[in-house]
Parts: sequence; C-alpha cells; structure tokens
Amino acid sequence: MSIVYFNKQFVPLAEANLSIRTNALHYGSAVFEGIRAYWNPNEQQLFVFKLPEHYERMLNSCKVLRLKVGHDVKDLCALTVDLLRRNQPKEDSYIRPIAYVRSEGLTPKLVGYDTGFAIYTFPLGDYIDTSGGLKVGFSSWRRISDNSIPARCKVSGGYVNSALAKTEALEQGYDEALLLTQDGFLSEGSAENIFLIRDGVLVTPDLSQDILEGVTRNTLISLCRDELGFPVVERQVGRTEVYVAEEVFLCGTGAQVSPVVEVDRRPIGTGKIGPLTVRIQQLYFDVVRGRHPKYRHWCTPVY
Ligand SMILES: Cc1ncc(COP(=O)(O)O)c(C=O)c1O
Repeated sequence: MSIVYFNKQFVPLAEANLSIRTNALHYGSAVFEGIRAYWNPNEQQLFVFKLPEHYERMLNSCKVLRLKVGHDVKDLCALTVDLLRRNQPKEDSYIRPIAYVRSEGLTPKLVGYDTGFAIYTFPLGDYIDTSGGLKVGFSSWRRISDNSIPARCKVSGGYVNSALAKTEALEQGYDEALLLTQDGFLSEGSAENIFLIRDGVLVTPDLSQDILEGVTRNTLISLCRDELGFPVVERQVGRTEVYVAEEVFLCGTGAQVSPVVEVDRRPIGTGKIGPLTVRIQQLYFDVVRGRHPKYRHWCTPVY
C-alpha cells in the first residue's frame, strides 16, 4: 500500500511529508474518516463499505470545523477507488482520509488558513477482538460534549479523549473503555458505538448523547429492523442499565460487531457471547463482503 494521495497528487508514501510547524499537529485541527474495504475471494473483488456515507460525514465534520477540502462526495469516492486500484490490495483494507489545517500559523483558529487533504490505505484485520468476547470498563474520563469538542464529528483533537480512556482501560486490564456523558449517561466506546439488548429490544444511546454518528450504528439499526425484525430504540441509557442488559456489543468500522461479555467485572447475561449478537454479527459480515444481494448497493466494487 505504498501509494498515497497527498497535496492533490498520488505519490509514494515516503514523499508525503509535513512540516513540524503544521497547525494541525499542534492543535488537532483536522478531521478524518475510517473506512473499510472487504476482500471477497469468491468474486476476486474488493468492496468498499458505505463509501459515500463516510465522505458525507467527513464533509459534515469539515463544515463544523470550517475546513474546505475542495472536493465533493463524488470526487472523494472516485479518488479513493483510484487510490485502491493503484495499490491493488487483495485483502481486507482500511482507508484513512484526513483533512487538516496545513498552514504553519501559530494561532489556533480555523479560518484564513489552507486546508490539506490526504488519503492512505493499509491492510487491516480485526481492530478489536470480534470472536472472544470483550471485557470493558467505564472510564473515569467523561466524553467530550457537543459544546466543547463535538463528538458528532471525527475531529482529530477529540481523540485525546479516546486515547485517555483507552489507555486507562488497557492499564486496568480491560479490552476497551466505555465513556459516560458529562451528565453521567452512556455515550460510547473510545472508537465504537454501543448497543444493549433488553427483553429482545435493541437499545442504543441517541444522537444527543455525545456520540459519533456512526455509519455502522446506522447500518445495524436498519439491518436489525428490516432483516431480523428486532425493535430498535435510541434513547438515554443509565450506567447500570448496561450491567443488567442481556447482551451488549460494540460496533464501528474498525470494531465491526464486537461482543462484550463483561462490564466493570460484571458478567453480561450468562457471561458468554449472546445469541442475538451472533446473528447480528453474521449478517453484518455477509453484508459488508457483498454477499447479501439486497445490500450490494452499500458495497462499492474497486476492480
Ligand atoms: C468515537 C467513535 N465512535 C464510534 C465509531 C464508529 O463509527 P463508524 O461506524 O462510522 O465507524 C468510531 C469510529 O469508527 C469512533 O471513533
């Protein structure tokens, strides 16, 4: 994966370098996306999952940060497919576009500076474990709020919040962190949205709970309602409601569908991966790899 898109050109990775004076390095003044492409060996095809949806969110993040990428969603999708074709991956891959304040000005501000844009890609299997069952813990760090650094947008600087929580979780022996909002309600994981199953109903924090508007979250809401016939409710969730859920799982482009078996040392349900989570995960893996005809339009073929 040695070719990247940088400064409006396709160049070798080694030539895509920035000055240490770059404003975004100092202030986190950048927005990014995380996109996956799945290899389908039977079809010898690479499918990018929900490509336009990711760039729509990226342009929304740019709008909030006043960054001007200079490309629309269609251009960005075409550039990404072009980049993948140049690199020719025949395995599951991750795609990372980033728009950043390129100027070397000292002021932490968002207007009057140039925006840089780059995309790179690399092979990626699981980001967090999808098969063993995760042990997670609530963080002592609270989720950044919409009026400080909006979690709705994938702002680079906001990921300090994720990094603090994830580090603490790993050092405490957990696989992943859960974060509460400033008001003490369930928000999301360090890089994942979260679902609970209670009495056969899927419950997930609503969009006012300082969460990223997850592409996978939206995908699963549709799939659970339309394919599996599970009711889905988006609402405020208290901390201890997670402890008493029958099943819990995390989701995200990186995380995919990752079952949770323990929260704050309390077993979830039987303490084993739940049966509904398994069904949701299997369906998701079929859909992203282009194996579900009804949802082929979510998969952009590269070759
Ligand atoms: C903080 C956070 N929440 C949720 C998600 C899941 O979002 P998506 O499904 O769009 O990848 C991510 C990233 O993947 C994230 O970084």
